[in-house]
Amino acid sequence: MSRVYNFSAGPAVLPEEVLTEAAAEMLDYNGTGMSVMEMSHRSKAFQEIIDSAEADLRELMDIPDNYKVLFLQGGASQQFAMIPMNLMKNRVADYIVTGQWSKKAYAEAVKYGKANKIASSEDKTFSYIPDCTDLPVSDDADYVYICENNTIYGTKFKQLPDTKGKTLVADVSSCFLSEPVDVAKYGVIYGGVQKNVGPAGVVIVIMREDLITDDVLPGTPTMLRYKTHADAGSLYNTPPAYGIYICGKVFCWLKRQGGLAAMKERNEKKAKILYDYLDASRMFSGTVEAKDRSLMNVPFITGSSELDAKFVKEAKEAGFENLKGHRSVGGMRASIYNAMPEEGVEALVAFMKKFEEENL
Ligand SMILES: Cc1ncc(COP(=O)(O)O)c(C=O)c1O
Repeated sequence: MSRVYNFSAGPAVLPEEVLTEAAAEMLDYNGTGMSVMEMSHRSKAFQEIIDSAEADLRELMDIPDNYKVLFLQGGASQQFAMIPMNLMKNRVADYIVTGQWSKKAYAEAVKYGKANKIASSEDKTFSYIPDCTDLPVSDDADYVYICENNTIYGTKFKQLPDTKGKTLVADVSSCFLSEPVDVAKYGVIYGGVQKNVGPAGVVIVIMREDLITDDVLPGTPTMLRYKTHADAGSLYNTPPAYGIYICGKVFCWLKRQGGLAAMKERNEKKAKILYDYLDASRMFSGTVEAKDRSLMNVPFITGSSELDAKFVKEAKEAGFENLKGHRSVGGMRASIYNAMPEEGVEALVAFMKKFEEENL
């Protein structure tokens, strides 16, 4: 068996320990004589899996009791519609647009009410996070929306916006569980798990209970109401059972690593190795403002598209996969999520140094 260093932005690298455990349990999960993929979601064994996953996530993130944890489907993209359908009581919401994902969320919200773009970094190709200390938040806004870590551009909110008392809704798909968060500062935290937490097919929504009501926009389908899923403990219909089981294993792995404070330390150390090299290199450079750099997604360029292509090709041949930048921006991007070991980043930097020497 040989494993590559996988720098994919998502679906992305998972901890090897988790994959090994899942493989060992594939044919017979915990004496049930079947795989988790084959068992009823109404069985005692699965109920224990989802209950432990929720309990471990609550412990990891220190989620207050007045927040629900929902395991849903439809990708993070489905939340772009679910959020306005459920939360736009006044039909007004404010959006901070810092990349393609918040832009898409904003475009979806426009369909349901008055969505205001109260800040944007599109003027400089989303290479920074705008100052959000004194925004023109609408008096009647139902919520303020952000994408906390911008997967494509590699920026992250280091400080949450001042929402002037309005509910904060955050897409954390690409920074989920990468560092401690103060859940009480948000009304809704959600993310697709396929970057930092588990296999594609599960979306986790952490939502303050008072926001989960029957007062939704007319015509909101049953499946798109948070209350449907909250009332049924995420078992209204058949859930993405195997995905939830893997997420649960990742939560246990994170606890064994020392929790989110330890992950933050490790992620900062890993990112520093790469950013320090990019700052010193005569060939490669980072593409975003240093103060807003993401710990998870690191885009970089050589300045020449031919050299970029050569680098991606040779890196792949050397066992560094998925370093090509997003199709909308080009260049390179190394996603260094929780499960990417420090050795992987060190090996990448060593390869980049060699490439620089050979091609400068
Ligand atoms: C920050 C962010 N939000 C949303 C999405 C969309 O996720 P999905 O493909 O699960 O709909 C992505 C996917 O890459 C993302 O990075």
